[in-house]
This record gives sequence, C-alpha cells and structure tokens, in this order.
Amino acid sequence: MEKFKNHLGNFFTPIYWNEKIAALELINQLELPIKEEWITCKTSQDSARAIKDMIVRGAPAIGITAAYGMAQAAREGMSFEKARDMFAKTRPTAVNLFWALERCAETEWSFEAQLELAKRIHLEDYEMNLRIAENGANWLIKHWKSTGSLGKKTITVLTHCNTGALATGGWGTALGVIRTLHKMLTQMGKEFVVLADETRPYLQGARLTAWELLKEEIKHYVITDNMAAFFMKDVDAILVGADRIANNGDTANKIGTFQLSIVAKHFSVPFLIVAPTTSIDFSCPNGDSIPIEERSQEEVKFVKIAGERIQIAPSESLARHPAFDVTPAELITAIVTEKGVVKPNELRKVK
Ligand code: MRU
Repeated sequence: MEKFKNHLGNFFTPIYWNEKIAALELINQLELPIKEEWITCKTSQDSARAIKDMIVRGAPAIGITAAYGMAQAAREGMSFEKARDMFAKTRPTAVNLFWALERCAETEWSFEAQLELAKRIHLEDYEMNLRIAENGANWLIKHWKSTGSLGKKTITVLTHCNTGALATGGWGTALGVIRTLHKMLTQMGKEFVVLADETRPYLQGARLTAWELLKEEIKHYVITDNMAAFFMKDVDAILVGADRIANNGDTANKIGTFQLSIVAKHFSVPFLIVAPTTSIDFSCPNGDSIPIEERSQEEVKFVKIAGERIQIAPSESLARHPAFDVTPAELITAIVTEKGVVKPNELRKVK
C-alpha cells in the first residue's frame, strides 16, 4: 500500500485528484474486498452522492472528499452557500465534514483556490496520521511495559469498523497506530495479532479493515461483533476511531463502539480513541448534543455486497439503523491525537 503513487506523494489514499481529467477518483468502498474498482466523480453532485452512498466513508475521508467537491462546485459556478448545504446534508455525524466546509468558507471561492485548499487538507490529514500513529504506538508500548504485558509472546489488539487508509487521507487513525505497532512489535520479536470486528451492518471491519490488514501482511482474525467479550481475556488494547469528540470527551463512533467500551472496562483493557484534532468539536458540550445519523432500515434487513442483495429479515419487520453511538468519556482510557495522548477530561491540552 505504501508504494501507491498519488497526486500528493507516495502513499495509498482512497481519494485521488486526477489532474489529467481534472476529476475526483475514489476507490469504491462498497465493492471491496471483492473488486478493487475506482469510480470517477466529474461533478460536485457526484462527489456529494459518493459520500452519502458510502462509496467513500470514514470521518476524515468524508471531509477531504467534500473539500474536493467544493472545488468542483466553484468550477461549476454554484454559489458557496448552495454547495455548502449540499455537502452538509450528506452525513451529519462526522464533524470533519463541517470542519472542512468551514475552511472552504475562509478561502476565496474560486476553483483554483478551493482545489489548492482541498489538496492541503488532504496532505495535512495524512501527515497528522503519521504523528498520531507514533504517539499511539509509543503510549501503548510504554503502558504495556508498565503492566508487564510486553513480556507476553503475543500482543493482541481489537478494532472496530475501518479507520485505516481507506477512512482517511492515508495511513489511518486507529488502524494507523496498529500498522505502526505491528512494525515496532515485530522488530522486538513479538507476535502481533489483530481482531477485526466485522461491524454490522456495513461490514467495514470484515470487508475493509481485513482488506487493509491483508495488504499490510498483519496477522488478523475477523470476528463477528458479538464475539468481543469472548475474546477479551486475550486482548491487550481496544483501538477505535471517532466521528465527533465532544468538549467533555464523550465520543461518537461507529455503532457498536459503546458496547465495546463497557466490555473493556469489565476486563480492565485500555480503550483508546484515536483521531486527529479535526474530529474534536469544542463547541459541542457533550455526547447528547452530537447528531446521530439514522440510516435506512433496508441496510439492516438486507446484506449487500458487490452488487448482490440478500434479504436476511422478514419484509414486514421494522428495523433500526443508527449509524453511530456515543461512548461516555468515563469509559475512555485516553484519546490519541497528532498533538499528544490525553485523558478525555484533558482535551483542552490539544486545543
Ligand atoms: O459510517 P462510516 O464507515 O463512515 O463510519 C466510520 C467510523 O465510524 C470510523 O470509526 C470513524 O469515521 C473514524 S475513521 C478514521
């Protein structure tokens, strides 16, 4: 994955600005891991639809895609307000989207200026992720030294959803820490194992995290979401991402994160939120104020993969699909950012 060449450097990114055709290309995350297909977004509407339909997903990747989409909108002669509204409506929970739109608002409303900004936001995100990975891996190794876990032959971590290169500008957040940990622990002669929650209903863990881990040659097991407690006695840390961190440290992330934090507390396993500071919403006092996206019940009643749609519940049954839940700050051991690792009640330190 590192050898992948893009318009910003030599690293894998799911978002590619193709200079030759002046259009946005996205790896189609609905088709992975069955098919590695890139789709072209020629217009701002294409880019907005790709976010809404989850062709591109993951909080930082959503923000970056919206920034490129805003450049397309400026090129199309759309007003800034109309373009901002179109992107703001796509996915409400990821604060990175609103952070990116805010930066677009502070920049001249022209194609050239907005495109330059989108590229800057994109590259900054990748660079932040490298720093986050260093911070998170160093913190965990120090922690495991102090608890004696580093004496074990095998270190096991569990992750939920997909927070890798696919969810960001590149490298990843929680999965980025896992990639860096893999390098460090392998050099120390340790075996390193990742448990990847399948993450119903969109299966980001089974489809996307496993795809990335395979490319990185990191030993992993895909587990269904209801197996976490069963395996917890072997787990040395849980690492997850964030869609929005409130001022008090409460954190919205993929549905299923909250129950993991409860399991982690029961087993005294460190539970880390890993995210860039662009995922922190200091204007949001606590988790109750975070808007939670409710998606279609069809996504629960049907499993859709690579064009196949299989019904798994009766048509007449109702279903619910909150896409995110909120983990209360008191269940979070630490928040790993590019500026350092802090306790949830110390967020001000990274402001
Ligand atoms: O619905 P998704 O796939 O966009 O949800 C993704 C997550 O919940 C991630 O954990 C979060 O966005 C962080 S990605 C670095």
